[in-house]
Amino acid sequence: MSVDRLQAHWGLTRMPFGKSLPVGSLSRHRSFQEAVARVSWAVTQRQAAVVTGEVGSGKTVAVRAALASLEPSRHLPVYVPDPTITLRGVHSQITTALGGSPQFYTGMLATQTARLLAGELDERGRLPVVVIDEAHLLSNTELESLRMLTNCDMDSESTFALILVGQPTLRRRLKLAVLAALDQRIGIRYQMGGMDPAETATYVKTHLAWAGRKELLFADDALAEIWQASRGYPRAVNNLATSAMVAAYAAGKAIIDKQCATAAVMETTE
Ligand SMILES: Nc1ncnc2c1ncn2[C@@H]1O[C@H](COP(=O)(O)OP(=O)(O)OP(=O)(O)O)[C@@H](O)[C@H]1O
Ligand SMILES: [Mg+2]
Repeated sequence: MSVDRLQAHWGLTRMPFGKSLPVGSLSRHRSFQEAVARVSWAVTQRQAAVVTGEVGSGKTVAVRAALASLEPSRHLPVYVPDPTITLRGVHSQITTALGGSPQFYTGMLATQTARLLAGELDERGRLPVVVIDEAHLLSNTELESLRMLTNCDMDSESTFALILVGQPTLRRRLKLAVLAALDQRIGIRYQMGGMDPAETATYVKTHLAWAGRKELLFADDALAEIWQASRGYPRAVNNLATSAMVAAYAAGKAIIDKQCATAAVMETTE
């Protein structure tokens, strides 16, 4: 079965549940909007923030949307997608983004990074916004070193915003005594939940519209089934909706009904 034939069958110009939705076409469900608002607030307040959520809850999409909405002449977003590149790697990436060439010695690199972060706003009028995605993968020592970066100038206001993004374990880890100093610096916390049934239905429609199909394609009970199995988490909704479309196409149906949604759920839970 080819993708082209599948798209033709459903009257689509592209696959609706891919990853590549432009910022303007994203679904604006509640947890997405709340996360974006929290990140934007952390930026204006130059605070540290933590955004957590289950796998596929839309954390990366929301944080990227928040970064995209920042005025570029006054902000310098530094997005670190994978902190397992080691702490040295994180420092190097920040330093490079701020126009420096990373020092060879790790101790000196940390100081260089902190200095560049502290100077950017004064010297170039841009507030660095450092986002560490998958931050639950950082060790306690690494998390503590990130806090040290915010300490360069103890008395004055913070010179950059730090956004930590990760799975719910991150939120729990921050409660550990060894991380108390970092925890105290975090002014903003948000845990992204799943979408509710109505939001899930709108989400599916938004994606279909983006792919060129404005009319109803999923029966209400099929959407209800997808919501229940996905708990309203976007990535799971994408996967189930795609499988259900394939199942309906294979069965020669004109609409995606509950039976197709159930088949999709069984397929993914097998
Ligand atoms: N607001 C949204 N509008 C449209 N699609 C979305 C939205 N949020 C998430 N998605 C879809 O869900 C997928 C998963 O979202 P995202 O990668 O942001 O989740 P995550 O919470 O960062 O997951 P992980 O824990 O695996 O990093 C995205 O690739 C995208 O297709
Ligand atoms: Mg992510």
